[in-house]
Amino acid sequence: MTLKPIFDAIEKSAHRIRDAITNEDLCYSEQCNATGDMQLKLDIQSDLIIAEEFSKISAIKAIASEEKEEAEILHENGKYMIAYDPLDGSSLIDVNLSVGSIFGIYDGEFQAKKMLASVYVVYGPRLEMVTAYKGSVRHFIFRHGKFMEQETIKLKEKGKLNAPGGTQQHWPKHHKQMVDSLFNEGYRLRYSGGMVPDLHQILLKGGGLFSYPGTTDKPEGKLRKLFEVFPFAFVYETAGGEAIDNKGHRLLELPCDDPHETTPCFFGSKYEISKVKEAYGV
Ligand code: F6P
Repeated sequence: MTLKPIFDAIEKSAHRIRDAITNEDLCYSEQCNATGDMQLKLDIQSDLIIAEEFSKISAIKAIASEEKEEAEILHENGKYMIAYDPLDGSSLIDVNLSVGSIFGIYDGEFQAKKMLASVYVVYGPRLEMVTAYKGSVRHFIFRHGKFMEQETIKLKEKGKLNAPGGTQQHWPKHHKQMVDSLFNEGYRLRYSGGMVPDLHQILLKGGGLFSYPGTTDKPEGKLRKLFEVFPFAFVYETAGGEAIDNKGHRLLELPCDDPHETTPCFFGSKYEISKVKEAYGV
């Protein structure tokens, strides 16, 4: 069976979420999500939209949302498992910066080694969708009523952008040295605080480094394996880049024992990742 119905459901959700972002108010709900972040009403609404679209597909066995504590079984006899972050970076909507939805599609188990495809949607000045599947990263822009396919995304060996996440005050010394050494080589700072647009920018501009290290206050980093890290690791590797943790392991080789587990993470083209390995001594 192909993943087409799943990609179509993501496309439908993207339009509905785009409408909600445009029209709904931005107030906070009374709830926190599983990681303790305050939820916007829009986070909850986006989650409901996606769950509703996926529930129509009998091939989907289970879904896990960043907004919910536990995974949910949809169809016992289904084959695919999907983990998603319905509206990543939603706290940036009030200042009108880009946000996104992130999806990882797995074969029967929420483990990186079982990942079949990943997809993300960017809600920015334009609506865009990127899919990583069967060895290629395809890029679509919504224009004149439909998603139009653009050139396939491929990373160069070396880029020009540096997107360092986390609070500098809490960075380990070797991490700061690595970030500074890239700036000293002429890299330019590009960081919005939205993982989707920040990683999308590096992919489309040919390369660079996005880092979210382990810090003194958050030794295991902030970004969640299942909802943010694995899907982007899949995109970066498929595009010819690399994605590793602070020990030099491929992110796609890390186990995931809890749906909300986090990890330090580095995504980039080959040159920048070699600099990370050098700085971390791995
Ligand atoms: O996990 C949510 C998120 O907003 C990501 O989209 C983003 O990369 C990260 O948090 C930003 O965190 P910080 O503000 O600590 O760099």
